[in-house]
Amino acid sequence: MSKTFLVFSSIFILIIFSLIFFSTLPFSFTKAAIKFLGIIGFFLLSLSLILGPLAVLWPNMFLKYLEFRKTIGVAAFLFVAGHLYLTMQNYFGWNFSKAVAAPGVLPGILGFFILTILAITSFDKIASFLGSKVWKFIHYFNYVAFILSFIHFVLKSAGPAQIFGFNYLEFIAILFGVLAIFLQLAGFFIRITKKSS
Ligand code: HEM
Repeated sequence: MSKTFLVFSSIFILIIFSLIFFSTLPFSFTKAAIKFLGIIGFFLLSLSLILGPLAVLWPNMFLKYLEFRKTIGVAAFLFVAGHLYLTMQNYFGWNFSKAVAAPGVLPGILGFFILTILAITSFDKIASFLGSKVWKFIHYFNYVAFILSFIHFVLKSAGPAQIFGFNYLEFIAILFGVLAIFLQLAGFFIRITKKSS
């Protein structure tokens, strides 16, 4: 089975399962779509952060998947862009000050702003214009975008409560986010100990 097929079919299965799950919840189609796009965006953002440390911890198994990080990051941006479009259209009437003032939304807006810069600078021509040092510096902000979107997610997740106050999909997404943090820390410590030994 090719790597590309494996990665994209896993994302497709994730989307289908989430859609089926959302159809069982008592939300309007628009509300379900807003939540669905936000959650899949968050999943993909976490996945883009999980691949790096997996490749450090188990290079034989995961190094070959590193090439998908950029595509997964851009896909996360596109899902969140859909999430932003629907919330601005249906909740805030394109009034940005209303959106900024809404509880828990500001971290999401800041996270999206960073993701937009990351998506633009991931085009090969722009990346080579910037040079690898500047590009690397900009892409460290991926971690900031992730933390901001995690805060936004936890503040805005709205059940219905099925497990510890979250619905099952929110709970799995949050576990996935926590896994991304743990693996990032583990990868960081392994790189440091390898450097100093
Ligand atoms: C990195 C960027 C973002 C991510 C990963 C993200 C993700 C999420 C997630 C996972 C939820 C919770 C869904 C649930 O109830 O389970 C959510 C809710 C929400 N987000 Fe975002 N979001 C982002 C940016 C934004 C932006 C830019 C806006 C608005 C301008 C926004 C507005 C909202 C609103 C209003 C809700 C509540 C939806 C509802 O309960 O009906 N988000 N977001």
